[in-house]
Amino acid sequence: MDRLRRGLVTCFLLISLSLLSFLIASMKPPVLLSALLCLFSVYAQDNIRIDCYPENGATQQGCEARGCTWKAAAAFDPVGTPYCFMKAEEMGYIATPTSDKQWTLTKNSGPKSPWGNDIASLKLSYKDIGDSVINVRIEDWNKRFEAGDHVDFPRKTEYSTEQLSVTVRNDSNPFSFAVNRKNGMTLFDTSIGGLIFADKFIQIATSLPSKNMYGWGEHIHQEIKHDFTRYTSWGMFARDEPPNSQGLDTKNLYGVHPFYMMMESNGHAHGVLILNANAQDVTTIPAPGYVYRTIGGILDIYFFPGPSPAEVIRQYTAFIGRPMLPAYWALGYQMCRYGYKSLQDMKDRVAAVRSYNIPFDVAYADIDYMERYKDFTTGKDAWGGFGDYVKQMHEWGMHNILIFDPAIQADYDSFQRGLNSGASFISWERPDEVMHSIQDLYPMAKNTQIMLVVVWPDRHVGFPDFLDPSNATQQWWIEEFKRYHDDVPFDGAWIDMNEPSSFGTNEDHPFFFDDPDHPNIDPLRCPTSGPDADYDVPPYQTHAVYHYGFGNTLATKTVCMRAVQGKGELRLYDTHNLYGWSESKTTQKAVYEATGKRGVVISRSTYPSSGRYAGHWLGDNTATWEDLRSAVVGAQEFNLFGIPYVGSDVCGFNGAASEEMCLRWQQLGSFHSFFRNHNSKDLPYQDPAVWPSVAAASKKANEFRYSMLPYLYSLHYAATLNGDTVIRPIFFDFPQDAETLGLSEQFMWGPSILVIPAVYESQTEVEGYIPLGETPTITYRFFSVYDYNYGQKVPLGRSLFPAPTSYNTPTFVKSGSIIPRAPPALTTVASRSLPFNLLIAPNEIDSSYNSQSAAGVLYWDDGDSVVEDINKNNYTFTQFEFSVTPKEGKVVLTMNVGPANAPSLPSLEYLEIFDFPSSPTYTSFILDGKLLSISSQKSKYSPITRISTIYFSTPINFSSAGKHTITWNCAVSMLESNRIEA
Ligand code: GLC
Repeated sequence: MDRLRRGLVTCFLLISLSLLSFLIASMKPPVLLSALLCLFSVYAQDNIRIDCYPENGATQQGCEARGCTWKAAAAFDPVGTPYCFMKAEEMGYIATPTSDKQWTLTKNSGPKSPWGNDIASLKLSYKDIGDSVINVRIEDWNKRFEAGDHVDFPRKTEYSTEQLSVTVRNDSNPFSFAVNRKNGMTLFDTSIGGLIFADKFIQIATSLPSKNMYGWGEHIHQEIKHDFTRYTSWGMFARDEPPNSQGLDTKNLYGVHPFYMMMESNGHAHGVLILNANAQDVTTIPAPGYVYRTIGGILDIYFFPGPSPAEVIRQYTAFIGRPMLPAYWALGYQMCRYGYKSLQDMKDRVAAVRSYNIPFDVAYADIDYMERYKDFTTGKDAWGGFGDYVKQMHEWGMHNILIFDPAIQADYDSFQRGLNSGASFISWERPDEVMHSIQDLYPMAKNTQIMLVVVWPDRHVGFPDFLDPSNATQQWWIEEFKRYHDDVPFDGAWIDMNEPSSFGTNEDHPFFFDDPDHPNIDPLRCPTSGPDADYDVPPYQTHAVYHYGFGNTLATKTVCMRAVQGKGELRLYDTHNLYGWSESKTTQKAVYEATGKRGVVISRSTYPSSGRYAGHWLGDNTATWEDLRSAVVGAQEFNLFGIPYVGSDVCGFNGAASEEMCLRWQQLGSFHSFFRNHNSKDLPYQDPAVWPSVAAASKKANEFRYSMLPYLYSLHYAATLNGDTVIRPIFFDFPQDAETLGLSEQFMWGPSILVIPAVYESQTEVEGYIPLGETPTITYRFFSVYDYNYGQKVPLGRSLFPAPTSYNTPTFVKSGSIIPRAPPALTTVASRSLPFNLLIAPNEIDSSYNSQSAAGVLYWDDGDSVVEDINKNNYTFTQFEFSVTPKEGKVVLTMNVGPANAPSLPSLEYLEIFDFPSSPTYTSFILDGKLLSISSQKSKYSPITRISTIYFSTPINFSSAGKHTITWNCAVSMLESNRIEA
């Protein structure tokens, strides 16, 4: 009723308004227009349909048998309008207050759950957490599985200027609740109905304050912003599923992130986390709103008030845990491939890339290095001397990351050591469920209930239980890493197949039967009928099954949902989505202990808070332009998810890369924190040394990236310390500029750099949008920092920028920024020892025409020690501030060096200042009261480009803590020439 009433009120208002205008100005069109608008609004409000048949094969009969309404969608209805929909406004619960902020919910007499009996009585409660977060819970009175009991979030909160409140409408049947801002803005409102809570089916639906929604994962979103012109369902269930960017594809990928951010109409942002680990899906509906469904756990919802997008992510990551800080070298360029024939093959490709002098830090080995794909082993002949080669890489200042799959073959030392040390594995619940046709082949596993499955190794494997409460499994895993590290001194771990992935589950002819490199061994079979199918074929199986059609179940490509872990206390049905998360957590410890250093872990499967332990690559993409483009969106989304160390397989994993696409991908990837070229086996090489043009472009792009590493590392430091993002959508920094809300193909690299990559075939220029700042006294501008008009201001708004393949990616620095840079070198290790320089891009003169200013920061530590607690890590935080007062010809640069705990900062070699008003007087430089000598030979100033480059005769050592000030004079300049027309 609420909806209809609202529609009629809107109608009434519109008609009164137009009647008024008719009376005053005899305007007929507004009357007509308002009548149309009115009809449309009533129609639109009547068009909120909550799907009652999300499975395939809806019929009118089947629909009505569920007590739902069948009405074919009309031609002009939004795409995806369900024909079968719930009488949502009648279904739900009645709320009775029981205590402060707590209600008993009693199932009303409205329509019942089509998927198992409704739980008759529930508890609704909400609480404020800390200063800003609101938590609403709907749960059974009996304890159920809760994701929140297992993911050990720090649950810290951040101060916010905004407070949220919850209104529970217990006077209506069904009850509903809303979450509001103090200013009245409603962020979440369940009055559209449709609340269901059964044992294996939970649904909640809400209307939304705008159509600007970002997030939910892991999926391929071709656009950063969700599309509310249609109904769209997205699966959320971890699966070994390669992304597909050809057209809309709503399949669930490797990880699960039930988190989104919304931009409200006034530039304010909020975030919502639905903390649930079961198989789940979400349907965005044009209302705007969404319907969220999960098949277990409880509804445990957290609201983060922002109000800026950056604050939302700070609040979110304070709550779930800040992202880990990668080792400095992990920001270097990385190269990998699946299918190196031998160590010599790997050495040859590494040598080829090095021969082009392309900055290059990390060489990987994929499962090829192992003896028949078994973890912690080295291939006998073809990989002899691998450990020595890794040592050799270390001498070059390079590092090595190795792949480790979670699955352990059931017949060799590592497995035996696991059993001996009391490690546990994902298991069958009862002895009679065990598949003896498989188990009895393995003397070590024969008398166990370990669920044996097929992955890369030749024989069956078991999955370590990283939720083992005794910790024996985790300890054994760590010991295996240490033991292997003694042989091959790797520096980081790449953990794959951790959805967890099982080949051919329930299939008669799995793909590996046709792979000459894999023996035809029996795949796992899960019960799909009878009483034991209760978890594998639940009443509602989610989009992760229905999207794929007949023959699929939740166990497709993974282990059985019936399986247990946590010493039999946990059901995979509940914990499946946490597998990659739990493996990441233990593996981070394993890397710390094995290497004694920070290193890095990257994981394929992720869940909220995985970022604390690992980064992520966007999976097995394909060498297509579409996948190149979706990587731009994917990297932004994972920053929202609190996993800023993210990137795609550069040049595409599957399929053969073309020269031009690979070149563009190398250029794009050079902005992603995780920057790795990787391809699949039996494909032509695609490293940059394959094509001279790609080698040249990669060298250029990598040199730019390496020159920016102190900035990039500082962004990561700020992410770990404060929850800032590294790559983010443009609207993060310009929330008031509505044009930015839908920009998918350009992004901010921290607060200061805007990137518009070339992502289309044969493109020689990019079209991009330079946003408008909103500070009353300052007009932001951007300066080009690539080959076109280097150092010059670019126009605001939409423009074309030249982007031939011989240029670096169109990249711009925001005025007001100081960027700490390093000279590029062949490795990050080499570059860290070279002196710094500062790029200074001052703001426009302020409204009183006093000065131009800029500021920036540098976080510096040794880049390599283990960081257990970022607050205890030894680091030096330096703030730079710059101002020039042209009418007096005075310039001041201060460097405020925080308590310098870290190894000494590199010295400062030169400054590059854009938009500098006039020629500096080189003899006037003073550092901390003493004359500072400038190399007038190397320094230069051009009144045309207005770029001033100032080289100190000797690089300045500014390691000692405290404030260091450099002042100098320049010729007094004509202010007016520097003004920007409004
Ligand atoms: C999976 C990974 C891929 C890796 C391959 C072989 O497909 O996603 O990156 O190369 O396994 O290990």
